[in-house]
Amino acid sequence: MTRKRILSGMRPTGKLHLGNFVGVLANWVKLQEEYECFFEVADWHALTTGYEDTSGLVDDGLEVVIDWLAAGIDPKKSVVFVQSEVKEHAELHLLFSMMITTARLERNPTLKEQVRDLELGENITYGHLGYPVLQAADILMYRAHAVPVGEDQLPHLEITREIARRFNTVYDDVFPVPEPLLTKFARLPGLDGKRMSKSLGNVILLSDPPEAIEKKVKTAITDPEKIRMGDPGHPDICNVFAYHQRFNPDAVKATKENCLSGELGCVQCKQACAEAIAGYLAPIRERRAEFEGNKDAVFSVLEDGVIRAREAAESTMYEVRKAMKFFR
Ligand code: TRP
Repeated sequence: MTRKRILSGMRPTGKLHLGNFVGVLANWVKLQEEYECFFEVADWHALTTGYEDTSGLVDDGLEVVIDWLAAGIDPKKSVVFVQSEVKEHAELHLLFSMMITTARLERNPTLKEQVRDLELGENITYGHLGYPVLQAADILMYRAHAVPVGEDQLPHLEITREIARRFNTVYDDVFPVPEPLLTKFARLPGLDGKRMSKSLGNVILLSDPPEAIEKKVKTAITDPEKIRMGDPGHPDICNVFAYHQRFNPDAVKATKENCLSGELGCVQCKQACAEAIAGYLAPIRERRAEFEGNKDAVFSVLEDGVIRAREAAESTMYEVRKAMKFFR
């Protein structure tokens, strides 16, 4: 039996952080065992929220790929490639753009949030509005059955599903309607308790050395009612405890009890947390250093990936053009 397919992607945002890892990447690594996986660097998507400064596209994309490989994405199992190198995505995006209304795209809650956060008002571009259409092209190009994403991407995926259904009904049954695959630990708070995000300056990077991790965890906001050692704490609302749960599983029970009783102070708790995170990341950091010293190995992964991605894309586009009667 052939394995089911997955496609997922990330924009070229530079070095990844623990939130990316917990929300998406760790899941990708596991899914490789079960699915045929395609992982793309969505460099065209990066332009939708800022097209002027493109100087970082290549380097930031490489950092992302290095983190993927370091975290355990295995190019022998999975196809790793860069979106802009597979031109078929542009063709499929154009065709899909005919099949969805602008009103539907304007109703997308993720878009509304961005318009609000970035204070775009009327200044939203045509490409930004079409972000989910490009994403639909990415996913459906590989006829993926499932898409591992973070929660924030669910509205986009809904648009992909609508486009797939519409295409299949209007023309011919070409696309599976893909399912989202959410991780159970989907959200890891940032050091300040907000969503972990580079723009908020509250991240721990996968590439951070132990000293940096220690320094950052020291600044983390804990239970505001626990002021000095002896005060009983509330682990359930503590960011540091959230990290313990994910990265220090053996000590979770004791940490919780000793925090609740007040016996464990935040300073000591943070120290143990930083050590656990650093220990967890040690093998990732080591592999990362190897790839950084051997960029040719990374380029060769991408060269091989784009060949395999193009092959799949050409075969889908043949079906699409045939179903749409561009030839007889
Ligand atoms: N929109 C995703 C993000 O912002 C990136 C992305 C592009 C993607 N194409 C995709 C994710 C296809 C899943 C599937 O992170």
